[in-house]
Amino acid sequence: MSAVITKVSNDSLDQATSILDKGGLVAIPTETVYGLGCDATNSIAVANLYEAKGRPSFNPLITHVYDGNAAIQQGVFNAMALSLAEEFWPGPVTIVVPFKSSGTVCELARAGLQTIAIRVPEHEFTRTLLQRFAKPVVAPSANISGRLSPTKPEHVLQDLGNRIDLIIDDGPCSMGIESTVVDCTSEIPRLLRLGAVPLNELESHLGTVSLFEHEASSPSSPGQLLKHYAPRATLRLNVANPNPNEALLGFGKTTNATLNLSQDGNVREAAANLFAMLRELDRTHDAIAVAPIPDVGLGAAINDRLWRATN
Ligand code: TXA
Ligand code: MG
Repeated sequence: MSAVITKVSNDSLDQATSILDKGGLVAIPTETVYGLGCDATNSIAVANLYEAKGRPSFNPLITHVYDGNAAIQQGVFNAMALSLAEEFWPGPVTIVVPFKSSGTVCELARAGLQTIAIRVPEHEFTRTLLQRFAKPVVAPSANISGRLSPTKPEHVLQDLGNRIDLIIDDGPCSMGIESTVVDCTSEIPRLLRLGAVPLNELESHLGTVSLFEHEASSPSSPGQLLKHYAPRATLRLNVANPNPNEALLGFGKTTNATLNLSQDGNVREAAANLFAMLRELDRTHDAIAVAPIPDVGLGAAINDRLWRATN
C-alpha cells in the first residue's frame, strides 16, 4: 500500500469521509500536528490504528468532535470542564472528563479507562470532516510510535506512507505542537501534558492548575501519567488449565473459554475485544485466567496491558 497525498478540497473531504465510514485510517491536518484519524466507535478500526502506529502498548487516544454538543454526548463535563471548553474550543486544549455511560467511543480507544480525553480542533477542513462524519474520531499524532509528531504531510508520508491509504495535505501545521491536556475529573484541574496553550493562559482562566508529579513528566512516556485499567478480579496470564473458580479468557483454539478474544487467533480482533471482554468477566467473576497470546504484532500490546493489569 502506498498512501495518496491529496490537498484539502471538497473531493478530499468526500474521500476522507468515506474512508472513515469504512473503518479505514486517514491522516488529517489539525492546527497542532497531523493526526491519524479513524472512527472512534469502531474497535477494529482503532485496533488497526494502534497497529499502524506500532504502539508497544494501548495508550488512551484523544477523541476529536465537531463541537461542545458532540463532546457532552461522550463525556460528563463539570462546571470547570465546561468553562474550559467555552474558553478554548475550538482550539488546542484537550479536556479529560469521566466517560458518559451512553457514550459511543469504544473501550479500546479509551484503553479501558472510565475517563475520556476530548478536543474540538480548530482546523477548518478537519472540523468540516467531523461535522460531515457526525461521529467522534480518534486521532493520535500521525507518526510511528516513538518518533516525532508530524507537522507536515511529508513527515506523515515518511512514517506511515506504506500503512495508510490517504493523507490530507494542508501544508505545515500552524502551531506544530500538540494540544495541552487538562484533567478535569477532580476538584482541582491537573495539567497532564504541556502543549500549544501555555500554562499561564490556562491559569489566568482557571486559577491554580496542579502539575503532574515530576518523575511522571518525562515527555517520552506520556502514558506513565495515566492510571491504567485494573480489574477488580485477580488475573492470571498464560494459563492453559484454569482453576475451577476462574473464568477463562480464550484466544484462538482455547477449549472451554468463557469468552474468546478471537476464535480465529487474530490479534487485531483480540485487541478490539480486549477491554470489553475483560470488563465483562470482571463483572461476573472474581478470578480471571487468560490463555497465552502470541507476542507478535498487536499481541505484544495486549500482553503489555494484561501484564500491567496484574500489577
Ligand atoms: O494535538 C493533539 O492533541 C494531537 C492532534 C492530532 O489532535 N493528538 C494527540 O493525540 O496528540 P494522542 O492520542 O497522541 O494524545 C494522547 C494523550 C496521552 O498521552 C494522554 O496524555 C492523553 O492524551 N489522554 C488520552 N486519554 C486520556 C485519559 N483518559 N486520561 C488522561 N489522559 C489521557
Ligand atoms: Mg503522539
